Amino acid sequence: MPVITNIQDLKRLHKRRTPKMFYDYAESGSWTEQTFRENTTDFEQIRLRQRVAIDMDNRTTKTTMIGHDVAMPVGLAPVGLTGMQSADGEIKAARAAEKFGVPFTLSTMSICSIEDVAEHTEKPFWFQVYTVRDDDYMTRLLDRAKAAKCSAIMITLDLQILGQRHKDLKNGLTAPPKFTLKSMADLATKWTWGIEMLQTKRRFFGNIVGHAKGVSDPADLAKWTSEAFDPSLNWDRVAELIKKWDGPVILKGILDVEDAKKAAAIGADAIIVSNHGGRQLDGALSSIRMLEQIVDAVGDKIEVHFDSGIRSGQDVLKAMALGAKGTYIGRAFVHGLGAMGEAGVTKALEVIHKELDYTMAFCGHRDINNVDKDILLVPKNFSGDWA
Ligand SMILES: Cc1cc2nc3c(=O)[nH]c(=O)nc-3n(C[C@H](O)[C@H](O)[C@H](O)COP(=O)(O)O)c2cc1C
Repeated sequence: MPVITNIQDLKRLHKRRTPKMFYDYAESGSWTEQTFRENTTDFEQIRLRQRVAIDMDNRTTKTTMIGHDVAMPVGLAPVGLTGMQSADGEIKAARAAEKFGVPFTLSTMSICSIEDVAEHTEKPFWFQVYTVRDDDYMTRLLDRAKAAKCSAIMITLDLQILGQRHKDLKNGLTAPPKFTLKSMADLATKWTWGIEMLQTKRRFFGNIVGHAKGVSDPADLAKWTSEAFDPSLNWDRVAELIKKWDGPVILKGILDVEDAKKAAAIGADAIIVSNHGGRQLDGALSSIRMLEQIVDAVGDKIEVHFDSGIRSGQDVLKAMALGAKGTYIGRAFVHGLGAMGEAGVTKALEVIHKELDYTMAFCGHRDINNVDKDILLVPKNFSGDWA
């Protein structure tokens, strides 16, 4: 058993154990990947203030996200095809999250269906909604999430059309993989993954196949996205969906102050400052650069959450210090899942928790709820002087 001390260790194992097309699917951004890279490198520019001789006994990372108690302010972000990183991946990740005491968000583009995850978990989870043109499908999707007792929905606003990720096209990404000479050669070296995958029935998009009409190729994510997603989505439609759900709503994919103000005005419970992990608009600023100005603009009206670029508990602490009330990890938990299944997701959460807890202490705090910008050394003009 390898000694895992950080997320990078899990990432290396993920790469070794998972078919290339799925590892690449996770570890890529759109076009030149500038935004994907800067999401992490911009975190490195923020430094921490070391404080000493301050009582660091009895620390807590417990807080709330949209009124839900959490063991630390870190949810699992919705990630499509999670069930291709490891067989039954959504169920494994949801179980790890509920045992740890953090929220799990199921993607519309999951392999395990809403009902399946509900059946195999104890606590309610959150459901991420992509808006598609087919109204009946949308209504049924929300009804299914309600029936499965999902305790919040997360409407993703930054994917009306799919950003191009070169590797997915080159790898011919499908779920399950189609058998070509190239994919067979790769699968031959990932036999544990293959054996587990052969033992499960969950190999297609569980929320789509059998539920959506006119799916021309049930294995092709890019095709279904371009055929079904709603490029005409607007704020009226978002408001309609919020009304229809009639429960807690988080709006995901806000990266601009003007959009944050609109989101705050239509009655959502939280927004997520996010650029989809650098997978949509390449050339957009990193999420962490945008966080503070969005908090300044709407933080007193709506809960502001954060994702994109978190690879450590230190990153979580930096986002919290800049005003976020909660954060999410995407790739950090996917690396754990691809590396070691449910145990790997638990490991990812443990690593992040320890880094968060220790760093908070080194910065002179005992309670995550009291952390503020005072613990940070932020380069002058970090948010940028853009015209
Ligand atoms: C492989 C992958 C698949 C994703 N699928 C979805 C999805 O189905 N729905 C969604 O709203 N966001 C999706 N995202 C974006 C994540 O929810 C989250 O915003 C992003 O991963 C955060 O960046 P990080 O990976 O640097 O933590 C996906 C991200 C990745 C890496």
